[in-house]
Amino acid sequence: PAPGWAIDADVVVVGSGVAGLTTALRCAAAGLDTVVVTKARLDDGSTRWAQGGIAAALGEGDTPEQHLDDTLVAGAGLCDEEAVRTLVTEGPDAVRRLITTGATFDTTDSGDIALTREGGHHRRRIAHAGGDATGAEISRALVEAVRSAALHTIENALVLDLLTDAEGRTAGVSLHVMGEGQHDGVGAVRAPSVVLATGGMGQVFSATTNPSVSTGDGVALALRAGAEVSDLEFVQFHPTVLFLGADSEGQQPLVSEAVRGEGAHLVDATGTRFMLGQHELAELAPRDIVAKAITRRMHEHGTEHMYLDARHFGAQMWEQRFPTILAACRAHGIDPVTEPIPVAPAAHYASGGIRTDLRGRTTVPGLYACGEVACTGVHGANRLASNSLLEGLVFAERIAADIAETRPPRTEPAESTGGEPVALLAPETRTAIQRIMTRGAGVLRSAASLDAAAEELEALHRSAAADVDAADPKDAVPGVDAWEVTNLLLVSRVLVAAAREREETRGCHWREDRPDRDDAHWRRHLVVRIAADRT
Ligand code: SIN
Repeated sequence: PAPGWAIDADVVVVGSGVAGLTTALRCAAAGLDTVVVTKARLDDGSTRWAQGGIAAALGEGDTPEQHLDDTLVAGAGLCDEEAVRTLVTEGPDAVRRLITTGATFDTTDSGDIALTREGGHHRRRIAHAGGDATGAEISRALVEAVRSAALHTIENALVLDLLTDAEGRTAGVSLHVMGEGQHDGVGAVRAPSVVLATGGMGQVFSATTNPSVSTGDGVALALRAGAEVSDLEFVQFHPTVLFLGADSEGQQPLVSEAVRGEGAHLVDATGTRFMLGQHELAELAPRDIVAKAITRRMHEHGTEHMYLDARHFGAQMWEQRFPTILAACRAHGIDPVTEPIPVAPAAHYASGGIRTDLRGRTTVPGLYACGEVACTGVHGANRLASNSLLEGLVFAERIAADIAETRPPRTEPAESTGGEPVALLAPETRTAIQRIMTRGAGVLRSAASLDAAAEELEALHRSAAADVDAADPKDAVPGVDAWEVTNLLLVSRVLVAAAREREETRGCHWREDRPDRDDAHWRRHLVVRIAADRT
């Protein structure tokens, strides 16, 4: 639909997690007229749910070089070493600046930042806040800073498409806003720099740690705009998500790796610690290794979950160090102080995304990507725990610096952009997509399971496309639900295509029929660009 209203800015930031709000604050501080648009409320994204913390070489004896080594090992041969080096060397100061912005981290008795461990880290390197409420504190601090900087924000705004000028350069975004007064209905923010910081796509699967807003909107938009997307097959499954039953769908409560970092054990129903002997770091092996070990043990025992045993922490430590997890477990009738916690893997993080360079630039001029939606090269085939908040911070600052240096002139969107018909799906299709993806492209995949998923997704796509061509398209209601499902289908199709193509097991891509890592053929990235096909 054609925009009914338009506003002008230097930068529009899409998304309001750590990546989006940090970019916006730094752009505004550089004197750029900046607008933040976000699909729900400012604090509704994934950042708020982060528990474990933010990794950075802040501790005595730790160095960026050691952080780099751990990140490269977790990334299973596919990290971009220069990007990782940037992350780990700029990380500590970026965390200190976050503290200056207003975030308060937990400290030791001597006043230093308290650090914990998580999977794949050989050192205590994870700063945390409120025990296990790190994301909530970061979100609070950034939202407060954005409000006191009087930044222009538009909430409840679903971005539909990128607008470009006659030369194909970024000229803004079209968006659909619900109930925000002067900016209501379909409108546009015209700006020569657009930063996508829309987060992940966990809602592609039935059970995920991601909130309901994580529907791959940024990746879908970038694909429609002809930007390159990479590594979508590498979906990370968090090993320890509170098991609420095999039928439980939607966002599931996370049980942070920091619980293992503080000494919890993974055990099977007989109480046996099955990570011992599997990896030198046992329960603190990189996340993909732990998720695979849990899944294998579940298959061997014919069960749907394993257990995390942290009874030895005692009530006081549980209450002080992990209050969020304690409350979530108790809300579901499990008391971790007296019983082991049932846990199983669930979709958690998209290691791939929109390809960027070290300044966050995508392959479309003027379009940037930051945070989970981006593929900067720091995660490779498997993100190292707690590197995601750090990536958001570090690359947000780089993007803001790039825009402030280049200050591209404002430009007019060409008439033809952003308005082509997209085959919108009926909102009810969401559950069908999630079930197809969970069956076919979940933690354990095979050519057969992926082929079946691809076929079912294509059938959904064909029926939506046939409908948009019909004289009176029945499902083309431009509501947020319909757009979200449409985006989910697009990213699912690309994800499955990549997972079919990568005939090996690497990082968090686990192919039952190709169990080995194949460096001779597959130490490379799968890059997708689908400019012509808008659905
Ligand atoms: C966790 O707290 O286990 C999650 C940390 C992360 O995903 O980086």
